[in-house]
Amino acid sequence: ALGALALLPGCDLKFWRMDGPMSAVHADGPVARAQAEVFHVTVWVVLVIFVLVGSTLAYAILKFRARNAADEHAAPPPQSHGNPLIELSLIGASVLALVVIAVPTLKGIWYTHDVPAEEKADAYPITAQGYQWWFRFEYPNEQIPNVGSLVTSNELVIPAGRPVRIDLRGMDVIHSFWVPRLAGKVDMIPNRANFLWLKADEPGYFWGQCAEYCGDSHAVMRFRVIALGPREFNEWLEQQIAPARVVPAAAPANAGEPAKAQFASYKTDWKRNEPGYSEEFDLKPLESWRAQQFPAHDEDPALIAKGRQLFQSKTCFSCHSVRGHFVGGSAAYPDLTHLGSRTTIAAGLLQNTPEQLARWLAHPNVVKPGNRMWTEGYQKNNIQLTPDDVTALVAYLQSLK
Ligand code: CUA
Repeated sequence: ALGALALLPGCDLKFWRMDGPMSAVHADGPVARAQAEVFHVTVWVVLVIFVLVGSTLAYAILKFRARNAADEHAAPPPQSHGNPLIELSLIGASVLALVVIAVPTLKGIWYTHDVPAEEKADAYPITAQGYQWWFRFEYPNEQIPNVGSLVTSNELVIPAGRPVRIDLRGMDVIHSFWVPRLAGKVDMIPNRANFLWLKADEPGYFWGQCAEYCGDSHAVMRFRVIALGPREFNEWLEQQIAPARVVPAAAPANAGEPAKAQFASYKTDWKRNEPGYSEEFDLKPLESWRAQQFPAHDEDPALIAKGRQLFQSKTCFSCHSVRGHFVGGSAAYPDLTHLGSRTTIAAGLLQNTPEQLARWLAHPNVVKPGNRMWTEGYQKNNIQLTPDDVTALVAYLQSLK
């Protein structure tokens, strides 16, 4: 039973699926593959032991059971004690099982510890920092004049087919970095320099999750890894290094039409367990990512300008930087410079659509209980957002491609 149960934790919520987005046995890179191999070897060894022990036990129970009243009162059968041959072969079998498990385990530990020497020169460095409850990613190779390293939040874009070495830091409490299909888990501990490496075989979209209990919203402290081909990765870097986009004040093609219509329907009674994802988004995540990179067709410059003004008057800017627009933010809060280009919001919890963004802005505490935007922002500064405010803020944030 233990052997069979051991199969479950690595699987998706639908436990019969082995290829779910959080499946550790469906590896998409060499590090996860090495980990999955150790898992498979262990499961088979454990399964063989389980079958041997289980069938011996079942045999003994059935064969030597009391069949009638006479059996129950009969004298015990001849007792035997000590058989050097059986004892030695059991010890030998146990040692053999441990060796079979230990060899690939040690090999795996050695391999997954750091980028192999022959690939080290090609490794791309990134720093990942865990906060309650979101991830901050720094790109030390990409220096922006007068700013420092390129920074993103909750979406880790990496070059596919290339080793990526990630320095891990916990910025408040202990978190843990885990992308089941690529690598992990390694703890992010305050004042301790942990790291891991990973490589995505091919361009793709991967789910990540904090894997160390870190407070109220630990379960919704997620992130995404997006692996791009060399050309697309460079294009992404260029886009991210640029300051926030400024929407021209010129009237758009649909001037005069109320652009609000598309997300005027956001609900104020949204419940936490209402799904934030659409099915097709999960099925075609990389395509969704590409679609996210382009400005929306029906942008309303006036609404965007109003949103930008609200971002200031509601003091959003005192925590969040939007490089090129607002620089007052701090590293302890997500940088929103290119928020509109991300596929998810609220640390990988909701799909980045106007509707979901409106939900997040209107009800941060419902979406992610105890989060600091709610406690340190809305509550402390008594920030009230009307539906119109939310609509304008959404238009502004979505324009930040
Ligand atoms: Cu961060 Cu759990």
